Amino acid sequence: MFAVTAITGKVGGAVARTLLAAGHPVRAVVRSPERGAAWAARGCEVAVADVSDAGPLATALAGVEAAFILLPPVFDPAPDFADVKPAIAVIKAALAKAKPGRLVVLSTIGADSARPNLLNSLRFLEEALSDLPLPITFLRAAWFMENASWDVTSARDQGVIHSYLQPLDRPVPMIATDDVGRLAAELMQQSWSGRRIVELEAAERVSPDQLAAAFGRALGRRVVAQPVPRGDWQALFREQGMQNPTPRMQMIDGFNEGWIDFRDGGVHACKGRIPLGEAIAALVRSHPGAA
Ligand SMILES: NC(=O)c1ccc[n+]([C@@H]2O[C@H](COP(=O)([O-])OP(=O)(O)OC[C@H]3O[C@@H](n4cnc5c(N)ncnc54)[C@H](OP(=O)(O)O)[C@@H]3O)[C@@H](O)[C@H]2O)c1
Repeated sequence: MFAVTAITGKVGGAVARTLLAAGHPVRAVVRSPERGAAWAARGCEVAVADVSDAGPLATALAGVEAAFILLPPVFDPAPDFADVKPAIAVIKAALAKAKPGRLVVLSTIGADSARPNLLNSLRFLEEALSDLPLPITFLRAAWFMENASWDVTSARDQGVIHSYLQPLDRPVPMIATDDVGRLAAELMQQSWSGRRIVELEAAERVSPDQLAAAFGRALGRRVVAQPVPRGDWQALFREQGMQNPTPRMQMIDGFNEGWIDFRDGGVHACKGRIPLGEAIAALVRSHPGAA
C-alpha cells in the first residue's frame, strides 16, 4: 500500500495516478470523506486526516510500503512562520508513530537557502524530518509552471502577463506539476537507505518572455511579458489580501538575483519530460471560461 497526502491537489493527484497506473494500491489521505469520493471510485482506500492532528494522520500513514508527504501550500505565512511550524510538528509526530517503510517528501528549489524567504517553510520541514529513522527522499522541485494560472486571464484578454520574475529574458528553473508527481511516485517505488535529496527541473529553463510566447501560441494571439516594478509589489500583494508579503517578495528576489537555484545550477538535477508549451496549453484549456 502507498499513502498519498494532498491527493486532491496537483502534485498529489499526479503521484496517485502514476502509482495506480503501475498497479499499486493507493491510500488517499484527504481532509473529508467527500474529498475522497473520486479517489474511492478509482479503487483507492480513503483515510481522513489533515495536518492539524497527529493521531488520525499517523493512522492514515501506518502500515504502508511508502508515503508521499506534502506540506500544504503557504503563500502568506504569519511572521516567523508561526502558523506553519505546528503543521510540521504534526507531520513529524505522525510519521514517527506510523513509520512508513519509505518516505518521499515534496520540497523545493531554495530549501537549502538560509536567507529569509517564503521557501524557508520547506527548509524547516526538511530539517524537522531529517532525523526520522526512515529512508527519506526530499524531492526539491523547481518553480511550478502551473503558477502561471494567475496569468491566463490577462494573457487571453489583454495579451499581457505581469511578471514579478525579472529581467524578462532571464531563464528560471521551472517544472510541470505532472512531472513532479510522476517522479515522486517513481521514487516511492525505489529502495534506498538514509536521507537523499533529488532535484527536479524541466529540460529547458524558462524566461518570462518565453512564458509569454507560450501563452501566445496556446491562445493564438500576441502575448508579451511586462515587469511589475519592485516598488509596487508590497502594495499589490496587500491589495490581493496578503497580511505579510515580505517572505514572498524575498523569495522572488531570490529567483531574480540568482541566490535561489539548484546546488550546481541544475547540472545534476533530474529533468522533466513535459515542455512549457504543453503545460501552458493545458492551463489555458482548463481555465474557467475557456472556449
Ligand atoms: N508553487 C511552486 O512553484 C512550488 C515549487 C516547489 C514546491 N512547491 C510546494 O508544492 C506544494 C503545493 O503542491 P500543489 O501545487 O500540488 O498543491 P495544491 O494543488 O494547491 O493542493 C494543495 C493540497 O493540499 C491539501 N491541503 C490544504 N490544506 C491542508 C491541510 N490543512 N491539511 C492537509 N491537507 C491540506 C489540499 O486539500 P483540499 O483539496 O482538501 O484543499 C490539496 O490536496 C507546497 O508544499 C509548495 O510549497 C511549490
